[in-house]
Amino acid sequence: MSEPQPIYLSDYRPPAYRVTRTELTFDLDPDATRVKARLHLERHPEREAGAPLALDGEQLALKAIAIDGQPLEQDEYEVGEAGLVVHRVPEAFLLDTEVEIAPDGNTALSGLYRSSGMFCTQCEAEGFRRITFYPDRPDVMATFSTTVIGDAEREPVLLSNGNPVERGELPGGRHFVTWDDPHPKPSYLFALVAGDLRKVEDGFTTMSGREVTLQLWVEEENLDKTDHAMASLKRAMRWDEEAYGREYDLDRFMIVAVNDFNMGAMENKGLNIFNSAAVLTHPHTATDAAFQRVEGIVAHEYFHNWSGNRVTCRDWFQLSLKEGFTVFRDQCFSAETNSAPVKRIEDVAFFRTAQFAEDAGPTAHPVRPDHYIEIGNFYTLTIYEKGAEIVRMLSNLVGKEAFRRGSDLYFERFDGQAVTIEDFVDCMAEASGQDLDQFMLWYAQAGTPEIDAHGEYDYANAEYRLILRQRTPATPGQPDKQALHIPVRLGLVGTKSGRDLPLTLDGEMRGTDTVIHLREEEQEFLFTDVSEAPVPSLLRGFSAPVKLHFPYGREDLAFLQAHDSDGFNRWDAGQRLALLALDDLIAAHRNGVEKVMDPRVTEAFRVLLAAESDDKAVLAQMLTLPSEAYIAEQQPLVDVDAIHAARTFVKQSLALALRTDFLHVYREHQHDAPYAPEPEQIAARSLKNVALSYLMAIEDETGLELAREQFEADHNMTDVRHALTLLVHSSRGDIADPALKAFGETWAHDPLVMDQWFAIQVTRPQPDVLDRVTFLMEHPAFSLKNPNKVRALIGTFANQNPVNFHRADGAGYRLLADTVIELNRLNPEIAARLVTPLTRWARFDEARQELMKGELERIRAEELSPNVYEVVEKALA
Ligand code: PHE
Ligand code: ZN
Repeated sequence: MSEPQPIYLSDYRPPAYRVTRTELTFDLDPDATRVKARLHLERHPEREAGAPLALDGEQLALKAIAIDGQPLEQDEYEVGEAGLVVHRVPEAFLLDTEVEIAPDGNTALSGLYRSSGMFCTQCEAEGFRRITFYPDRPDVMATFSTTVIGDAEREPVLLSNGNPVERGELPGGRHFVTWDDPHPKPSYLFALVAGDLRKVEDGFTTMSGREVTLQLWVEEENLDKTDHAMASLKRAMRWDEEAYGREYDLDRFMIVAVNDFNMGAMENKGLNIFNSAAVLTHPHTATDAAFQRVEGIVAHEYFHNWSGNRVTCRDWFQLSLKEGFTVFRDQCFSAETNSAPVKRIEDVAFFRTAQFAEDAGPTAHPVRPDHYIEIGNFYTLTIYEKGAEIVRMLSNLVGKEAFRRGSDLYFERFDGQAVTIEDFVDCMAEASGQDLDQFMLWYAQAGTPEIDAHGEYDYANAEYRLILRQRTPATPGQPDKQALHIPVRLGLVGTKSGRDLPLTLDGEMRGTDTVIHLREEEQEFLFTDVSEAPVPSLLRGFSAPVKLHFPYGREDLAFLQAHDSDGFNRWDAGQRLALLALDDLIAAHRNGVEKVMDPRVTEAFRVLLAAESDDKAVLAQMLTLPSEAYIAEQQPLVDVDAIHAARTFVKQSLALALRTDFLHVYREHQHDAPYAPEPEQIAARSLKNVALSYLMAIEDETGLELAREQFEADHNMTDVRHALTLLVHSSRGDIADPALKAFGETWAHDPLVMDQWFAIQVTRPQPDVLDRVTFLMEHPAFSLKNPNKVRALIGTFANQNPVNFHRADGAGYRLLADTVIELNRLNPEIAARLVTPLTRWARFDEARQELMKGELERIRAEELSPNVYEVVEKALA
């Protein structure tokens, strides 16, 4: 077998032929679906005449082929592994093909497949080529007409993109519906769904007064789990009109929930397909976090209708054009409907843990990569989240008004086109009059930039001198980095007054909060008329996706945590203070020295707990210690046991010192109002549950009783799941085991709750957990063919149970590699994602490095999909 080869951005050429209209007919059958395609093709004006026609196609059995009604002879075309070539074609012509495909055998969940008995499709990025021969690339945009023929009983519902235009009965118990989508779209936005589904319907009146029918299609038993998604959709539709002037453009908008799905959801034109986990909610089955996730994803997919569908990507190297922008849009939307500072804190906490780790590992890549082997491997935190951070920086750089003018210009100028990241940034430059040339480097350079900052206060001259130095570490293929344009938002907090001081820079008054622009490797900023010694509050709101180092003393951090006017930095100061204390404890653990708690951390917590008036949602965040994964991110060499021991020690010390405060907070925030996923309730629940987790860290008798009561009260999934998790993670099997058993029995019929049941168990820190994982893989509710199950059981174990995944005997690694090898055959996309934790071997001690690399080599010895091949090769390079 030949090795998969990379493709390069620099090789981009427009397609030789483009499709203006696509007419499809599906005759559905689980084992032998027939797909007829009539493509209206014409030579691309920029390409030479006489080129052969090359169409993508994988796993298709060609049954018939004709050009302009004339069947082709055997020697006029060739079918290979990757597609079809017709040697000679006219300048403009009709191509008719008929192929046979086997949805039931499709375990990769790309193309046409079956999920819980229904037919559904997933075409992004390159799934359409598993449905029919086609120029399967985003710069080919056509209008579509799709006829779906199915069994009237098994598939009473037949859906595709656009508007239904015809339906009828056929002999043999068959029926059909024809759909027409008038908006030209690339093949990756095609969708088809057929099955026994029920719908919930609602309506929306657009800003210009058009009526849109909204439909949510689900299995019958899930009809009671759709309210929140529908409400979120309507809020998102209104928000996009108000914030971006974008109106919906078809008569109906449909969402379908499917159980087997590789990702969260997909923005197919007019027919979004969702992983059921990303759309279904009910107070008894979904946590607050799940409700918020659903709202964000529904909005994200809806927003793609403009940022992605109406204006799409020229090629897959531009993936962040639609994803970075759309994530930024959904983040802003969620910030407005929930607590804005908490949304930012959560997003950044996740980003700094997971994206920073990606940037520091062997698969690091720029937000716009310049080559790839398998595009399916590039739906990453870098493309999505770092891409969103770049758009956020742009919006801050040019300002809100210019950003809106720029996005209006972008949507207007490029409507119906497939474009590049330059096209987007050019609109921002044009609308703002700013030079964004250096800024473009953010898209080209991989790795996390680091800023080393220090400052000096000159009392006699009332001056504060801030020196910033930037560097970006080498990443694979990019040894040398250039200086980026980094916006640093900051304030100077007076140590006497506790207030933000007025800022004068180069003689210009800048208020008390300003953005300075770091463009050189090193730059000095001199603030004058600084009337008292300040502590600088740097990178407010996480104004750039960088690591900022400043030699803060612990008093400085405690001071900022109490006084910073920026909520995000107040939280971050607390995190930094905790990290310093954790560092000492990690060292103590490694050296076998007695651990001593830093009293400043305890004191800071005491102050927080006493400050009743504070924003409760933010307070819950401030009372949460950095995660083990984030602590690991800060260490030169990751010692999972020391990190776990240190963090546990801090939790226990805080719980012992502040037991009554936590108890008080818990009781103060216990409510029994009917569940609603509203900010105030969510804040109260998170605060109460944080308090409970401290009490449970010392297995306090009252805490145990409260956890048991909270579980049994069965008020909502947020409280139940949290209580059950704390019990299962405690040493009190006598309480936990029956609770776990009861929970598993109650919810055996609900796959989304069973996912949670799996996740709760495999995050147990106790050493017996690996046996539990193996045991649960045999559980009737588990299946390797269902991505949600793989993520819940294996993914959660490998990513969220560091002490056990990194067991010194390598058993955790072996389990993961075994699963990857099996999944490589079934579902390469999921397999390639799952292997990630093993690729991070360089962060661990030598013995573990050897074990992890050994497992990677064992995987490499298999016959690999391009997906797994690419990741494993990089990891072992
Ligand atoms: N484009 C989808 C989104 O961002 C994600 C996705 C990618 C889904 C590939 C399926 C396959 O919303
Ligand atoms: Zn997206």
